[in-house]
Amino acid sequence: MAYVVTEQCIRCKYMDCVEVCPVDCFYEGENMLVINPNECIDCGVCEPECPAEAIVPDTEPNLEKWSELNAKFSAEWPNITVKGETPPDADEWKDKPNKLEEEFSEKPGSGN
Ligand code: SF4
Ligand code: F3S
Repeated sequence: MAYVVTEQCIRCKYMDCVEVCPVDCFYEGENMLVINPNECIDCGVCEPECPAEAIVPDTEPNLEKWSELNAKFSAEWPNITVKGETPPDADEWKDKPNKLEEEFSEKPGSGN
């Protein structure tokens, strides 16, 4: 079991989550983060830290697509352990629908 980052993170990318993870298992894409399921120790401390409520345990239903996306991109994107600058329009993207289809980017972030 692991926690997964879901659609609400896309273009919000607040990064409060990386500050609390005890095992530094977040990875940075251009406009969202993902969790490496092999490194996550399932502690749950990141879940309440996300202002967009993007992080959920993978025991919730219908998360297969997000589990796959987290596993795939955490192997490709750089590790991030320190909170960077939140996008200035993050609040405008909160709760917007269809972000996976319209806004998701496979490009890596800069990491740190
Ligand atoms: Fe890190 Fe714990 Fe969140 Fe997993 S559940 S990503 S170990 S803070
Ligand atoms: Fe994304 Fe929430 Fe972290 S918006 S970057 S999962 S704090």
